[in-house]
This record gives sequence, C-alpha cells and structure tokens, in this order.
Amino acid sequence: MKPAALIPAYDIEGIRAQFPILKELVHGKPLVYFDNAATSQKPRRVIKAESAYYATINANVHRGVHTLSTKATEAQEAAREAIRKHINAKHAHEVIFTSGTTASINLAAAGLGQLLLKKGDEVVISGMEHHSNIVPWQLACERYGATLKAIPISDSGEWDLSIADSLIADSPNCKILATSHVSNTLGTINPAKQLITKAKKRGIVTVVDGAQAIAHLNVNVQDLDCDLYAFSGHKAYGPTGTGVLYGREVLLERMPPWQGGGEMIDTVTLEKSTWAKLPFKFEAGTPHIAGIIGLGEAIRWMEDYDKEAMATHEHLLLEHATKGLLTIDGLRIIGTAKEKVGVISFAIDGVHHYDLGTLLDQQGIAVRTGHHCTQPLMGRFGVSGTTRVSFACFNTVEEVEGMVAATRKAVKMLR
Ligand code: ALA
Repeated sequence: MKPAALIPAYDIEGIRAQFPILKELVHGKPLVYFDNAATSQKPRRVIKAESAYYATINANVHRGVHTLSTKATEAQEAAREAIRKHINAKHAHEVIFTSGTTASINLAAAGLGQLLLKKGDEVVISGMEHHSNIVPWQLACERYGATLKAIPISDSGEWDLSIADSLIADSPNCKILATSHVSNTLGTINPAKQLITKAKKRGIVTVVDGAQAIAHLNVNVQDLDCDLYAFSGHKAYGPTGTGVLYGREVLLERMPPWQGGGEMIDTVTLEKSTWAKLPFKFEAGTPHIAGIIGLGEAIRWMEDYDKEAMATHEHLLLEHATKGLLTIDGLRIIGTAKEKVGVISFAIDGVHHYDLGTLLDQQGIAVRTGHHCTQPLMGRFGVSGTTRVSFACFNTVEEVEGMVAATRKAVKMLR
C-alpha cells in the first residue's frame, strides 16, 4: 500500500495545483523538487500578493500620509500580525522583520554580545548548527573575549544531553544558549524546550534558530519560552529576502540596535540619537515590503491548508523514502534520530555526492549536495558532504519512488 493512501483526505492534487513551478520541465522531465530545506517553492497566492503590492499599492511604509503609503503600511503590519499569531508571540512588536535567518542571528549575536558578554563568559551552541548559527557567535565571542562551546552530537545525530546539561547547568559563565530547533542537514527535531527550561533556571538567554522548523512544526514561542527565535520566510513558502527575529519584549527593550539608519530613530542630533519604539528600533531602512506582504500570505496559506496534515504527509514521505533508500547497497543515512522532519542526508560508498546530484538532476530531480553549511557536523560524521533530499507538502510518494529508483540506477553507473 502506498503511504499517500494512509491519509486519503490530504488533497495532494489541490495543493500541487497551487504551485506553478511544479509544471516546469527540467532536462525534458517533470520537475521533482526535493530541495525544500534550501528554499521551498511558492504557492500562487504568495506570488500574487507580492506582485499585487507592486502593481497596486507600491509605496514606502510608515513614512507617508498619502493613501498608497497607508495601504502599504497596513498590508505590512497585517503580515506582522499574521506572523505573531502563527508563532503565538504575545505582541506584534516582538516580531522584527529581517532579510532572513542569517540576518536575524547576526542581529541577535551583535545585540546580545554588546549587552551581555565579557571576558571569560561562554556561549553554548551545538555541533549540528548551520554556519549562520556558528559564525555570528564566533564573531561576538572574539569581540568580547568570550568562549564558544558546543554540545556534542551522538551517532544518531542528536544532542548529547548529558553533556548539554553540564555545559549550561554547571557553568556559571554560560550567558547565551543558541541552538537549532531542527537540523537542516539531519532533519533532527531537537528537544529545544527541554534545554531552554534548564537554561532559564540559570538565567541564560536562549536563542533558537528556527529556519528549518517554521514550515514543518507548530512553533509556539511562548510555550518554548525562548528569548529570541529566528526564521526565514523563503523556507516557509514565502519570498526570499524575508525573515523574522521574534524577541521577548523585555529583552528587546534592553538590546541595543544592530543597524543605524532611517526609521529606527526617535530623535537625531549631530551629537546623539535616541531609538524608536519596538519593533522599529531594529528595522533600519526601507524593508522588503513586497516580500513581507508575501510572507504574510504564505503564513495564511499554510494555515488555510492545515499544517498538521502537511506534517503528517511529509512524515509518511520520510518513512517511505528512508525505507527505499536503505535498500541501496552501501548507502548510509546520516541522521537517524527518532524525531525528524522530512530531511534525509545520505552517503554512498564509492559514490561522490556531487556526481549523484548531477545524475539526479538529469532526471529532473533537484537535491542538495555538499556540506549544507554544516562543516563541523560533516567532520563529526567523517564525510566531506552528503546528498540531501528534503520534502515539502506538495511532494508525492511517486516522486519518492522515482528518486529511489534513479539513485539506484545512478549508483550502478558511478561505481
Ligand atoms: N540553509 C539552507 C540549506 O540547508 C540553505 O540548504
């Protein structure tokens, strides 16, 4: 029996019809898009919302008394409210717009570094972080004389919690815990809440990289009880160049601004400036208004289409693909945690991931190859890179079976 049949109410055809790109051919073959962890495809509603802004209400936000500026401002702020509701933030002004997770974490590291770090302090991350949740902390640690420590990763691709405990609970010097909710390379769903609870008891400020969680889990920042939560719009069916940093109000009030410029000020003299109220203190310059409006639409679209059902569908694809791939001789899945989203990284004896990715592309199948911006994690597993397939709500069982068959064929050609 095919897994898709296990949830007959799931309207896969209706969902696929929402994505114009799925009608594209690649090398004469129907596109099979399995690179959703890099960026997801966009439903028509999102594309329309973005272009409707340019076609009908294009104006700068929070700057004009004229009608178009008012409409653009309202549309942007409606997106902020949609996001607030989606992640269950207490206030809309706790939602800061950025250009993506990278910018959000750089903002967090710069602000928290200045606010909290001094010589001898420690920042704790984990060994499975994306470079964008490593390098900004390295820069902050270097600047303030702090030390960066990492929770080690087990053979199954999970945090070693016994060591995590000692890093955060037994160290009086730990000031910041910055870890991913879901691993982009392994798909592991991390026990973020468990660690945050421990960190809070020690007064440690907690930052969550939610880039890979936002499209697949129900993110509830009040339940997680994190201080900051970062994510990108483009991995959640929204436009590229959009992102969010959620921040607990009391912390955001204390954090210094990251970038200076227009709209983030209250008053400016040549001697001194004072800052605008939240969230504008952190939103210098003209934002990506069209993208933010598109992101708001992506969030509404996900809610209309039942995120729970999407997660179940993706989980069935994960199980089916895992089973199929493991029948290929010499294939090793890296990341075998019990709790995973629809991401599978694998290495195959005698086959270079780049060659495999190229042959799959010839069949119209898009996968990611390489280190996935997680070089320390690659080192942990002793590989230079992997082939990664990552699913979204529009993928099908037939696509999974086609990918497994194409991988088997490619392996025969490459060995
Ligand atoms: N962070 C993105 C990925 O994992 C780009 O592919």
